This record gives sequence, structure tokens and C-alpha cells, in this order.
Amino acid sequence: MSINVEKSFVENMFSLDGKVAIVTGATGALGGAVAAGYGFSGAKVVLSARGEEKLKAYAEELDAAGVATAFFVADPADEKDVKDLIQFAANTYGELNILAACHGFNAPKNIIEQTTEEWKKIMDADCTSVYLLAKYAAARMAEQGKGGKLVITSSARSKMGMAGYTGYCTAKGGVDLMVQSLACDLTTKCGIGVNSINPTVFRSDLTEWMFDKESEVYKNFLKRLPVGRLGEPADFVGLAIFLASPASDFLTGGNYDATGGYWAC
Ligand SMILES: NC(=O)c1ccc[n+]([C@@H]2O[C@H](COP(=O)([O-])OP(=O)(O)OC[C@H]3O[C@@H](n4cnc5c(N)ncnc54)[C@H](OP(=O)(O)O)[C@@H]3O)[C@@H](O)[C@H]2O)c1
Repeated sequence: MSINVEKSFVENMFSLDGKVAIVTGATGALGGAVAAGYGFSGAKVVLSARGEEKLKAYAEELDAAGVATAFFVADPADEKDVKDLIQFAANTYGELNILAACHGFNAPKNIIEQTTEEWKKIMDADCTSVYLLAKYAAARMAEQGKGGKLVITSSARSKMGMAGYTGYCTAKGGVDLMVQSLACDLTTKCGIGVNSINPTVFRSDLTEWMFDKESEVYKNFLKRLPVGRLGEPADFVGLAIFLASPASDFLTGGNYDATGGYWAC
């Protein structure tokens, strides 16, 4: 049998050299890690979030670490902001090749106490925002005619319910199905790969309390985690790079778990 894989392909399959990536939620635990991961893999990154101060500070930090970095303040649930963000990336670096949606929001509440406004805020922040980002990023990528990658952060909570999570679980479940539908719309026609990453618990400002090894929440989680620990932001980066790189060119419409084996037992 002769070798049927080219060495140069394997050597470069995870490289993002020369690519331009937008990362939303870039001031968050996962978005920050993804932005650094993409940058250290050769991409030029456009960081986005709603709060300017943290965003500017993180852009300066990445820039100082040698990553070509720009930032743009935007609310991903606001259509004009999203259009402007895509345009900014294209104006700044010439084109757009990768969109990593890493923003998110939750305000858990029992449905009986939750107001319709609160429900809508979660749906806008976690679901409509992904629609808008995908729509305008894909339009730009289609215009360029070189394909592209949409890497969407969903949640393991898209696959099961939880008390107080009616909004969040529904929004993330919607994101998973959106990813499948987007693959049908965008992959054959425009060469755009669309996949989601579905994490369990990763360390962030909001989840830090769950890392208390004495807490019942931590102990209960560990019972279902063969990997033996909760996630650190760096654990998220490999899958995010893979789904943005040529290594994943055969994959689209997938919801990939980043869970430490949560679904195994
Ligand atoms: N960490 C986990 O354990 C975990 C588990 C499952 C799923 N996830 C998902 O992973 C993604 C990132 O989570 P993370 O842990 O990195 O979160 P994080 O550290 O809390 O950061 C959240 C990011 O999203 C932005 N954001 C906050 N509220 C927003 C809103 N209402 N609309 C738009 N953007 C908003 C924040 O910046 P601004 O407020 O300045 O916009 C920030 O950049 C989210 O989609 C989350 O649902 C996380």
C-alpha cells in the first residue's frame, strides 16, 4: 500500500496562519482562551464584547504577546452592531475566515417567577445573537468565495433540562439545531463548516464557586466525570482550534462535547 496522506497536509492541518478570526465574548473565560489559542496558531484576531474597558485591556495583552489583535465593542444581539463588527474585521484585516461565538448569558429562575422580558433577554443573548453573527459572517465569507468556519459555543445543557434553566437550555438547544440547519444552508453552497462546542463546567468568574472540592455540587459532578476534574479554559482551546482549522474540513453540523466524559457514565 502507498501513503495516501500528504506530509505537508498533516504538518499544517491545525495551522490558522493568515486567517482572520472574530471571537465574541472575548473578555470571558472561554472566549479569552479561544482568542489566545487562535492567535498563537497564527490567526489575526478581532476581539468583541459589550464592555470596552476589559476588551481594550485584553487586546493590549494579546498584542504584547505577539498576536495581531484588534477589538470592537458590540452587542451580539444587536443587528447593527453585528453588521458593523463584521465590516470592521474585513476593513481591518482584509477578510473574515473564522467566527468563534463565545459570548453567553444566563439568569436562572423558575418559570413561574420569570418574567417574559427575562426569558426574551436570555433568548436574545444566547440564540438570536448566534443567528445574527452566523448570518452576517456567512454572507461575508460567501462573498469572499473561500469558505470559512463558524465555531459556536453551546452547552451540555442543550441536551438536558435543569431547574431554573428554561431559558438557557432552550436557547442552547436552539443553537445546536441552528448549527445543523446552518450546515445544510452553508456548507455545500459556500464551503463554510459550522459546528458547536458543548461544554459542561469550565472555570470562569461565574463558575469559580463550583470548584470548591468540599462542595456537594463539585462532588456530584465528579461522579460523572471520568477525567477526574472540572474544565480549565485551556481545555477548551484544542477543540476550538480543530473546528477552525483544515483538520476539521470533513466535519459540519456537529455538536461536539467538551465535558471530560460527562456523557460516558
Ligand atoms: N464556563 C462554563 O462552565 C460554561 C459551561 C457551559 C456553557 N458555557 C458557555 O460558554 C460561553 C462562554 O462562557 P464563559 O464561561 O466564558 O462566560 P464568562 O466568563 O461569564 O464570559 C461571558 C462573555 O460573554 C459576554 N456577555 C455577558 N453577558 C452577555 C450578554 N447578555 N450578551 C452578550 N454577551 C454577553 C461577556 O462580555 P460583555 O458582558 O462585556 O459583553 C463575556 O465576554 C457562553 O455561551 C456560555 O453559555 C460556559
